[in-house]
Amino acid sequence: MNLVIKRAKVSKTFQVAIICLLMSIETFIGSIEIRNPLMLASGVLGTTYSTLQRAYKAGLGAVITKSIGPRSRSGNPNPSVFALHEIRSLINSVGLANPGYQTFRQDIEQLVKSETPTVVSIFGENQTEFSEVLDGLKDLNILGFELNLSCPNTEKGGSQIGTDTEAVYSIVKALKSKTNLPLWVKLTPNVSDIIEIADAAVKGGCDAIVAINTLKAMVIDIQTKQPILGFKRGGLSGSAIKPIGIRYIYDLYENFREKIPLIGVGGIYKGEDVVEYLLAGATAVEIGSAIGVAYPENIIRTITMKIKKYMKEHDYSSIGEITGGAHR
Ligand SMILES: Cc1cc2nc3c(=O)[nH]c(=O)nc-3n(C[C@H](O)[C@H](O)[C@H](O)COP(=O)(O)O)c2cc1C
Repeated sequence: MNLVIKRAKVSKTFQVAIICLLMSIETFIGSIEIRNPLMLASGVLGTTYSTLQRAYKAGLGAVITKSIGPRSRSGNPNPSVFALHEIRSLINSVGLANPGYQTFRQDIEQLVKSETPTVVSIFGENQTEFSEVLDGLKDLNILGFELNLSCPNTEKGGSQIGTDTEAVYSIVKALKSKTNLPLWVKLTPNVSDIIEIADAAVKGGCDAIVAINTLKAMVIDIQTKQPILGFKRGGLSGSAIKPIGIRYIYDLYENFREKIPLIGVGGIYKGEDVVEYLLAGATAVEIGSAIGVAYPENIIRTITMKIKKYMKEHDYSSIGEITGGAHR
């Protein structure tokens, strides 16, 4: 008798596993379809083709490259990343260290050749620099560009481009006129009104909004009495910022609804975190710190299974049905 019950239980678990395996969780970001809503966030795995391709092979829907500028930039002094284990978070001052688009182009070509859906993150200190990078890469068969607006604006005395509505509008508009590839705009949370900035990006013609980048932060070693990072100041990522990312996606969805797809990023470690971003209004998400500190295979498989299990339990048949659920 016991054996029969046990068998019945095993077959129920087995059935759920099979249903989950067969369940499709592809999603659309505007006109782009990706096989699932999980993407690699910019920066955490650097600029090497093999590492980015491995992350895709581990089961992601797409990868976003490290932000690439017009020329190579060396990084900030070490240490540039510090783990805050007690709050499962990172603080980094890696900044915009990169090899420049001409050198990085080879890695992107290899990504494209290996059929890795790739979004190239680009930055510049002004419209001319953004245009140069976009022009140098727009012939590649990539999914699109993500504009990292967290660079100091040299034309306006060094404040971040992403805090200036006029600069955001004119850069997005200028780049949009140069390419048919989708342009996603990644917002910094370090502003007083994120809706104003998003509105400027939407008016400029962007194809999706990505929120959020890291939050301004610092850690001090109480023994040396000095900031820990070589650059002193850094950006916070990981679990500590998830409620902030959720709030921004929720607010953006309230303001823009179906006008523009939203991509949630910040503090995703589990399937539940992804569902939370979807309910807030995202159509897809990006994962940074969690993938930056572990091999991607296990975490992505676990997250994917959890999303499917949640969909089964709550009778959802597509990712789109979950999007914005917290507003209904
Ligand atoms: C080490 C490191 C480097 C990063 N580099 C970039 C970058 O080059 N461009 C960018 O737009 N965001 C960059 N980010 C921010 C992430 O893409 C992401 O927005 C942020 O870390 C929040 O997501 P998370 O909590 O999942 O890490 C970086 C983050 C980290 C931790």
